[in-house]
Amino acid sequence: MGLRETSDRHRRFAFWVSSESTRNSVRVLLDEETILAGVASMSAEIRDCYGDTPVTIIGVLTGSVVLLADLIRKLDMPLRVGVIQTSSYEGTSRGKLRVNSELMLDIRDRHVLIVDDIFDTGHTLTEVVSLLGKFQPASVRSAVLLKKTGRKEVDMDPDFAAFDIPDEFVVGYGLDYNDAYRDLPFVAVLESKDLAEHG
Ligand code: IMP
Ligand code: MG
Repeated sequence: MGLRETSDRHRRFAFWVSSESTRNSVRVLLDEETILAGVASMSAEIRDCYGDTPVTIIGVLTGSVVLLADLIRKLDMPLRVGVIQTSSYEGTSRGKLRVNSELMLDIRDRHVLIVDDIFDTGHTLTEVVSLLGKFQPASVRSAVLLKKTGRKEVDMDPDFAAFDIPDEFVVGYGLDYNDAYRDLPFVAVLESKDLAEHG
């Protein structure tokens, strides 16, 4: 069983390498080890902020799933986990934002921490914060893995961000391009020739 798992994993890795050279090229921006160190240090900041106060973590689907799984296992504090779904992107351009809160936990009088993959223009997080505010939580804060430099179009910042990154389109660790690449364990820049081909 152990051997089989190892060889399956190996085959999958070989597939990425060949798909990189023949199809889309990706350039690693943050490797797995760097990401985990960043998530650990962000979780320490979050822990310092809330102390032992229970927190309701709301992950923004789908991009936050990998961060959500790693973050909640690092946070040594009382917490509940729920999700909300937003979608807006088609390729790399923003369309109209849709928010689905049907799967969310009851957050009335709770301290809420929204978790998302990336803060780009900031419109998504601003709308999610304002929507959750309508459910009368005790407080609302936000945490993201990545914050893009020089893209902000709103009057808010995430309360916690693990990494500031340059203004490039990135994939992996939950982030997608047309629903692909979410499973990469690292964050990589998708080269613009590949965006143009597929966008
Ligand atoms: P914003 O509303 O412009 O801040 O964009 C936030 C959402 O857009 C994120 O939750 C992502 O789903 C998506 N997004 C923004 N930039 C990127 C990127 O570089 N790669 C993949 N998704 C992105
Ligand atoms: Mg998203």
